[in-house]
Amino acid sequence: MSRFQSGQPGAGDGLTAILGAGALGQLWAGYLALAPAGNTAARSRVGFVERPGTNPASLCYQLQTPQGQASEVSVSFLDPATDRPSLLLVTTKATDVLSALKATLPSLPEAVPLVLFQNGMGSQQAVAAQWPDRPVLAASTTEGANRPEPGLTVHAGRGQTWIGAMTPAAEPLLSQIVTLLGNTGLAVMPEPDIRARLWQKLIINAGINAFTALLDCPNGGILTAPFYLQWIDGVCKELHQVMIAEGLQSPGAGELRQKIEAVARSTATNTSSMRADVLRGRTTEIDYINGYVADRGKALNIATPVNQMLRQQVQQLSVTPGPSAT
Ligand code: PAF
Repeated sequence: MSRFQSGQPGAGDGLTAILGAGALGQLWAGYLALAPAGNTAARSRVGFVERPGTNPASLCYQLQTPQGQASEVSVSFLDPATDRPSLLLVTTKATDVLSALKATLPSLPEAVPLVLFQNGMGSQQAVAAQWPDRPVLAASTTEGANRPEPGLTVHAGRGQTWIGAMTPAAEPLLSQIVTLLGNTGLAVMPEPDIRARLWQKLIINAGINAFTALLDCPNGGILTAPFYLQWIDGVCKELHQVMIAEGLQSPGAGELRQKIEAVARSTATNTSSMRADVLRGRTTEIDYINGYVADRGKALNIATPVNQMLRQQVQQLSVTPGPSAT
């Protein structure tokens, strides 16, 4: 039995492992290791899962809060032979999650819960289908993190994180995991309908990310671009139709567009994750965003030509895919 199940999540007894040492992984590792000011009882043991072929002892970086305060963080890489994690946070990109878990899960007892932090949709369902007996949870987060230079991780703005069960074995563990992650001081809530929550974020990503990548502009730049103005209503109409066919509640296409544009305006100067991937020559998550909408449309007999067109155009941009982490 894992230590998480046997005992005291958040009380310093459990070890939280993080798979994916990109900006989001470093954000959670930093908050878990540091805990809110003065609250040492809330500090957790945390370590990164080592990627095959690498052999560092630890990762050191500055974590800068939204208020601009920087703290030194040092997080060890775990030794699979001796370390016994109680919880695994998976913060790789959606494109990498299955291969990363196939490499990691053989050394992790089946009772250890996994929390999936991937963007978009499809990868969470694939993990739950591959490991149906494991406690698998998915997170939808609006926490923003980036790494503007080596050794510096910036928590760009405070957001919220919702967590929900993807497999039956995860349900009894949900409140313990929410408490453990909430002890960091970040806002973490249980979500009884995580699929609907993930769709809410998918709407925003489907309406912003591909356009910013294709137009090579920050989020706010899409709003007056003729290419965006030509296609956004089609994206929203298809999103609405697929959501209704999925049995989800959806406002009309016009209201979906308003939601997308409110986020594009409030994050106007940000570079979206997809534009950043294209600029760095990395594989994008398009298959898990507009591609997922097109795939679900196909499965449900709903035409999704606009989402499919955006998927194809972004795929043509990603000419030199490379290894990546969220
Ligand atoms: O993927 C992203 O970059 C973000 O989810 C969003 C909302 C588009 C803001 O940049």
